[in-house]
This record gives sequence, C-alpha cells and structure tokens, in this order.
Amino acid sequence: MFMELTEAKKNLQKKGFLDMEVDVRLDLFAEIERLKKEKNAILLAHYYQEPDIQDVADYIGDSLGLSQQAAKTDADIIVFAGVHFMAETAKILSPQKKVLLPDLKAGCSLADSAPPDLFARFKAQYPDHLVISYINCSAGIKALSDIICTSSNAEKIIESVPKDQPIIFAPDRNLGSYLIKKTGRDMVLWNGACMVHEIFSLEKITKLKVRHPKAKIIAHPECEAPILAIADFVGSTTGLLKFTQRDDAKEYIVVTETGILHQMQKENPNKTFIPAPPNNACACNDCPHMKLNTLEKLYLCMEYEQPEITMDETLRIAAKRPIDRMLEISAQAGL
Ligand code: 13P
Ligand code: SF4
Repeated sequence: MFMELTEAKKNLQKKGFLDMEVDVRLDLFAEIERLKKEKNAILLAHYYQEPDIQDVADYIGDSLGLSQQAAKTDADIIVFAGVHFMAETAKILSPQKKVLLPDLKAGCSLADSAPPDLFARFKAQYPDHLVISYINCSAGIKALSDIICTSSNAEKIIESVPKDQPIIFAPDRNLGSYLIKKTGRDMVLWNGACMVHEIFSLEKITKLKVRHPKAKIIAHPECEAPILAIADFVGSTTGLLKFTQRDDAKEYIVVTETGILHQMQKENPNKTFIPAPPNNACACNDCPHMKLNTLEKLYLCMEYEQPEITMDETLRIAAKRPIDRMLEISAQAGL
C-alpha cells in the first residue's frame, strides 16, 4: 500500500539521510504493531520521544530502564526510539540482536561534548582516579570508564565506591556538580553539558512561579546549579514522573525536555504541568536529536530493518564491562 521505493531512495534511507515519503492513508500505529509481531521486534522509547511514538512503544523509560530492558529482552530486533548512544548501549548489551535506530543522525550534544581521544588525555592526568561516566556518552568513552551511571542511579553508584577512592565524573558538569553536593565527594569533572537542559531561564521560571505560587518546580539534574537550587524536587525523568504521582501538589513547573509531560499528564489527568520556558523564544526545550525520530521513520526502519547499529567487537567488549558493573550495582540497590 505504501509508495514504491526506488533503489536510490533505499540506499539513501540506509544511510539515514532521507525521510522517505509514506502513504498518508497508512495507519502507522497498526502497521508498527503488525511489524512488531511479524519480526519479533520490541520497541523501546525514551520519555523525550513525541507522544505518538510513546503510545506505540512496548516500553517507555529513562536511560536506566531502557538499558535494563535491552539487556533482558528475548526479541530478535530491538527498535530504539531514542538517540544514538542509547541504541549503541542496547547493541553493546545484546550483540546477537539487530538494533535499529529510526534516524542515525539522532545524536546527543552531551555525548558529543566528550571526544574519546581528548578524554583519554584528560584521564591520563589522573592515573589514580576511577572513572564514572554518565550513560550519555559514546562507546569510546564507555570503554575508557570503570562504571557507567544514569541520573536514576548516579548517587548509589558513587556511594558504592570507597570514600578514599578519587573519582573522575564525565561528561556532564552539571550532573557532576549536583552529585558532588549530594554525596560530599570531591570529583574531578569533565566540562560537558546538555544543550537542552542548559537553556532554561532562571528569570522566566521565577516569573512563572510568581504567577503560579502553588506550583512545585521539578527539575532534571542536567540543569545548571541556579535552577536546581530553586527546585522543589530534582530527579531523573522516571524520578520526576514518580514524584508527580506520589506528591499532592496540583501544579508543576517542569524543568526538563517537554516529552515527559505526555506521561505526566496521562498518569495525572487532574494535575497541571507547565513546561519551563527557555531563555529565548524558540522551542529549545525540545531535544532536537530526540525529535528527529518520527512515526514515519519508525515505520520505515521497521519495514526495511535499517538503519542498523553496528559496532567493532573489541570496542563493544570494552564498553560492556562498565555497563555490566552499573547493572549489577543497580540490581543490588533494588533499582
Ligand atoms: P534520563 O531519562 O535517564 O533521566 O536522561 C535524560 C536525558 O537527557 C536523556 O538523554
Ligand atoms: Fe542529549 Fe540533552 Fe538531548 Fe538528552 S536531552 S539526548 S542529554 S542533547
């Protein structure tokens, strides 16, 4: 029923360069469900994906939940509606499975802020330090790390390391500073950041709070310190969502990527969620990388099983060790 594809178009799509036209009469939700069954594929989506993608996913979660799902699934194909480092993590954990990412260009400004060659030189200056890296990094950085963490388990991971062990934390300086305050550990930080979480305006959030005095401010720890200082609650995307479920406020100013508002609103239909404004008039609190994925690209990638994540086996094995360590510590901590 969809349009015939020329070889040239197929090749461009393989390289992730072309969002091919899809017959508008297709019911993409039904088609994606059909493809999941036919191909024994599981669709994992991050909370920052557009609402339609979240609604068709088998599992929606934060980075920790997604990597736990990727490690345990018995599907033949993992379709990752998220960004490149997330799909790469799934491939590292499940090398025998085909891992698909709807758009290979869906990168991450935070992961890009830590090129492995520069980080290797930085690390060499601190030979006694243990490297804890946030999962938002490339496989190259993971291979240079001792333990991976996510925003859900970072505190527990740091606390699992003996107090006298010096630590390098990479690549997010904001999460790193927040964790130094929370754990009292004096960590050396790599100077990276997320373009989305650094865009929020303290002034505009303060003005919003004046207009909504009863609203609680909830923020992701990738935000800068002045924003976190005024937050009533700081947590990972799953942490923020759970907070809104157990807390009794009726209104929230949500300082993170806007995608999470979809689940917050679904779980709490009687509450109001106000996205925190960026420091300009653009929609910069939408992650431009996450939002590269569309329902159409998702359908095409499942139909043609492209673009696929592939990885050098030596790199994969080196990158897997610190992720396994993270999953072990998280399981021990009941996360
Ligand atoms: P979590 O969903 O793990 O909190 O991470 C946020 C994020 O920025 C993902 O790219
Ligand atoms: Fe990367 Fe930030 Fe986008 Fe998350 S929100 S994928 S950290 S750029």
